[in-house]
Amino acid sequence: MSLDQTFITNSSWKPDLFKGKVVFVTGGAGTICRVQTEALVLLGANAAIVGRNKEKTDAAAIEISKLRKDAKVISCPNTDVRKVQSIVEAVNKTIKELGRIDFVIAGAAGNFLADFNHLSSNAFKSVVDIDLLGSFNTVKATFVELRKNKGAILFVSATLHYYGVPFQIHVGAAKAGVDALSNALAVELGPIGIRSNVIAPGLVDGTEGMDRLLTTSKSNAQTKIPLQRLATTRDIAEATVFLFSPAASYITGTVQVVDGAAWHLGSTKKDEYPVLIKQKNEETVTKL
Ligand code: COA
Repeated sequence: MSLDQTFITNSSWKPDLFKGKVVFVTGGAGTICRVQTEALVLLGANAAIVGRNKEKTDAAAIEISKLRKDAKVISCPNTDVRKVQSIVEAVNKTIKELGRIDFVIAGAAGNFLADFNHLSSNAFKSVVDIDLLGSFNTVKATFVELRKNKGAILFVSATLHYYGVPFQIHVGAAKAGVDALSNALAVELGPIGIRSNVIAPGLVDGTEGMDRLLTTSKSNAQTKIPLQRLATTRDIAEATVFLFSPAASYITGTVQVVDGAAWHLGSTKKDEYPVLIKQKNEETVTKL
């Protein structure tokens, strides 16, 4: 679900909340980070959309720029967060075209379902490299701007490392690292005025992640969430606006879970535990 002008009229935020600010968003063409960016742009920010795929990244930047009359939204395609120099090029383009960076959303991520027996060492590394090393690289490349502008960082994490989620060893390990990274950055960078927080979304309706990863029906998943519905992309965007706003100026080193209290009930995949997992792990090992 994309946002439109009604977000300004029916939201809790003032329209020019982020006037003069620039947000740099890795994974900005993906569903969750795109709507986070839409909210910030509707509330006055300019934005750099950073992604691997040129067509998708260019299209997202053009569409988001139409949300506000004087919005400047640029595309930084062909950027691989696993390579710090690749992000440095995107940062240089952002400064040249938008003048500064105040906020960073480290949202680029990779995911697929794989049991331990079929998860190769390289597959594990790919996800850790994108999610964790990519998050580190994103802050590394934007650090000078964040320091200059006393900026704020927001990592997009998950809740699945709060307990053991089958078929998500690689992502759980990577996201646990992301949370640790944010906490340490909050402590190290606090004295120079930079805040660092994490948003941990639960199941978000209409996302590629949910389509690919949900192993039960949507209605079945909803009944297992205390608030009895999936998250919307707007739910994540609202929390993002709060964490970047002056209302959160004393909030750093936190993880804001936005999941309707779902994680307190444990793994959503417990229906298939342990039969399927036992079967998978008893198969002849095919991956190293
Ligand atoms: N099950 C098991 N292993 C898988 C897999 C799956 N479904 N998909 C990929 N892999 C493995 C590959 O086999 C490869 O391992 P190998 O060399 O041992 O065979 C390894 O992961 C890397 O795959 P590759 O496609 O070369 O990596 P990539 O860097 O191009 O892609 C991924 C990264 C794997 C994370 C890919 O899924 C991706 O690009 N995702 C981006 C989109 C996305 O996941 N968004 C998040 C939605 S929540």
